[in-house]
Amino acid sequence: MAEGVVIDGRAVAQGVRERVRAEVAEIEAEHGVTPGLATVLVGEDPASATYVRMKRKASAEVGIASHDHEPPASVSREELAALVAELNEDESVHGILVQLPLPAHLDDAELTALIDPAKDVDGLHPVNAGLLAHGRFDEALVPCTPRGVIELLRFSGAELRGARAVVLGRSMLVGKPLAQLLLAEDATVTQAHSKTRDLAGVLAEADVLVAAAGVPRLVGAEMVKDGATVIDVGTNRTDDGLVGDVDFDAVRPKVRAITPVPGGVGPMTIAMLLQNTVEAARRQLAARRAAATTS
Ligand code: GUN
Repeated sequence: MAEGVVIDGRAVAQGVRERVRAEVAEIEAEHGVTPGLATVLVGEDPASATYVRMKRKASAEVGIASHDHEPPASVSREELAALVAELNEDESVHGILVQLPLPAHLDDAELTALIDPAKDVDGLHPVNAGLLAHGRFDEALVPCTPRGVIELLRFSGAELRGARAVVLGRSMLVGKPLAQLLLAEDATVTQAHSKTRDLAGVLAEADVLVAAAGVPRLVGAEMVKDGATVIDVGTNRTDDGLVGDVDFDAVRPKVRAITPVPGGVGPMTIAMLLQNTVEAARRQLAARRAAATTS
């Protein structure tokens, strides 16, 4: 069999970014408002700082106004809550992203839940997770990485309907919402994780395999079905540089298509953040307009 096709996440992400740029211009023409994204980077974790810098740069490139906040690692819960409340009230801010993980004295889930769900462009607020679980996609803001994974699967031409999809991982950021999205695509979804018995046997049944475990090169060729489509969400920083959860060189010869690391899911996560920001802006502006005409 020929080697699997390498799914070019950078190219797909570029298409999304161009679409978002056009939408930003449309919103400006229609409402006289520039969509705004507030990013909150607490402390100086180098990986988080890199991600946030990339998000800010990508926003600026499509014309989204970037509102940058960098409280020190010593910020109190009350101070951070006050910042989130201020951003919730700020009409020029349509999306709010608090980069995770927060320093140990702060509770990621508690602080995330203070964000106005309408501005929660990470889709992490319990209201958005609930809307997603209820299949109310038009009202929810859906987490960026899972949205990006679905886009890559569509782009690759993978058949999802009736397919056996295995998601390796169960985080709030990726695994759980992704399982919901695959279910909505009519896949038969198995959620595997670190306690799964016979993990290799479970993964080997997957027509569509999404690895989001955070373990470098965990998935080897023996765990992958011939002709599968493999999406690698892993971004593990190792002495060999950035590596995925999948042993790319070993797995590629067996599969139909596979994403590389880097250059696969990562660029899509940022592109979908931009997409979520313009969607959030559109909904907020429409709601404001409706409120103005009825009052
Ligand atoms: N940390 C790692 N990935 C993410 C993400 O997508 N959003 C936020 N807020 N923090 C993260």
